[in-house]
Amino acid sequence: MARDAGSIAGIQKLRFGPFAIRAGDGNRLIAADGRSLIDFSASWGAASLGHGHPALVEAVQRTLGAMPGASILSTVNEPAVSLAEKLLELTPGQGERRVWFGHSGSDANETIIRAVEAATGRKRVIAFVGAYHGGTTLSMSVSGHTAQAHATPRPGLFLLPYPNPYRPHFPGAVGEATLAHLDYLLATVCPAHDTAAILIEAIQSDGGLLVPPPGFLAAVADRARRHGILVVCDEVKVGLGRTGMMHAFAAEGVEPDLISFGKGLGGGLPLSAVVGPADILDRQTAFAMQTLCGNPVSCAAGNAVLETIAKEGLVDNAAQRGGEIMTGLRRLAERHPQIGDIRGRGLAIGVELVADRTSREPASRFCQKVVYRCFELGLLLFYVGLRSNVLELTPPMTLTAREVEKGLDILDRAIGDVATGRVPDAAIAAYAGW
Ligand SMILES: Cc1ncc(COP(=O)(O)O)c(C=O)c1O
Repeated sequence: MARDAGSIAGIQKLRFGPFAIRAGDGNRLIAADGRSLIDFSASWGAASLGHGHPALVEAVQRTLGAMPGASILSTVNEPAVSLAEKLLELTPGQGERRVWFGHSGSDANETIIRAVEAATGRKRVIAFVGAYHGGTTLSMSVSGHTAQAHATPRPGLFLLPYPNPYRPHFPGAVGEATLAHLDYLLATVCPAHDTAAILIEAIQSDGGLLVPPPGFLAAVADRARRHGILVVCDEVKVGLGRTGMMHAFAAEGVEPDLISFGKGLGGGLPLSAVVGPADILDRQTAFAMQTLCGNPVSCAAGNAVLETIAKEGLVDNAAQRGGEIMTGLRRLAERHPQIGDIRGRGLAIGVELVADRTSREPASRFCQKVVYRCFELGLLLFYVGLRSNVLELTPPMTLTAREVEKGLDILDRAIGDVATGRVPDAAIAAYAGW
């Protein structure tokens, strides 16, 4: 029995194997048995600067040593205000805007939904099948991931299929039928005048790292504008440089009304933010509070992350390393017929595994075994997708070319080993994954 089985609640676990970590070191993690692992997950994208980056350590230690309170609710603190100013500067948007701080992608998305409903008086929200927007009641209720099928959708929620170029839902041009369905909903049961917001990811991350066809995001935003519906972009996993652009939505020149940030913003510390119009986020005091919102240590981490991204050119690094990974993966695909599709931008990459390339039958168990074997061989990564068959590569943005090479070598070996039956079913039987 793993040691945590008797102490840590199973309802917060998403385990793919008996993976235990003792420490972190740059873009590597040290396993409990002392092995050094290349980190191709960054804890689902949160450890944007890797582990123990000196700038992050210095900022956190300095702030913690003389902590100016713990909260922004009733007193102002400098790290929170300077982080808010930085976020306003680096996000596009019109007019007066404000920043709300939270601890997780979930609370950021939850706050957005509550705030836009209150501000607009409109009750409908449109989101996408496959989207994971959070694990709190309301953020789950506007999500469309199969892992959350146990949760009750929010009344007034309409879900559209997210366009999937590899597995199109509808015949014809990918995305067109979804846009037509959006028009149909707005003209019928989801009347535009009662629709507060469309909540969308520029790359749908937990749904399988889906990159929509060119023009789709812009077309959704155009429709929203035409109807006075707010465009909300969830940048929690793919934002702040990871895609090789500061914002994932920038790929289509979209200017969202509201944006949620999380994960990589805190570099691994609990921190999220919402950027949006002042008339929505200033509308009422004491409306969306948690005691530790604007925590100065978390905000100091956020400042260090944004400063380091700029100072070390990490947006460019994400683009370059991502390009190298894509090239390497295409080479692996020549050897491994289980690789059905490779997609993504920068360091937000998905590798869809299939039983055969013609039927495209999802290779879910195979995928779980690859993750398991990678861990054994020295690479940490996980998988996503509604069929649990998409390897997710979201390494720290500090990843080096050498680590790219090493990580891909291990992935190559792991796929080969699983294909030749080196990972028995029993090895992964105890781990449900998702
Ligand atoms: C796109 C997206 N939004 C929101 C969330 C929720 O973030 P958190 O788990 O930090 O609450 C996630 C988490 O996986 C996510 O991927």
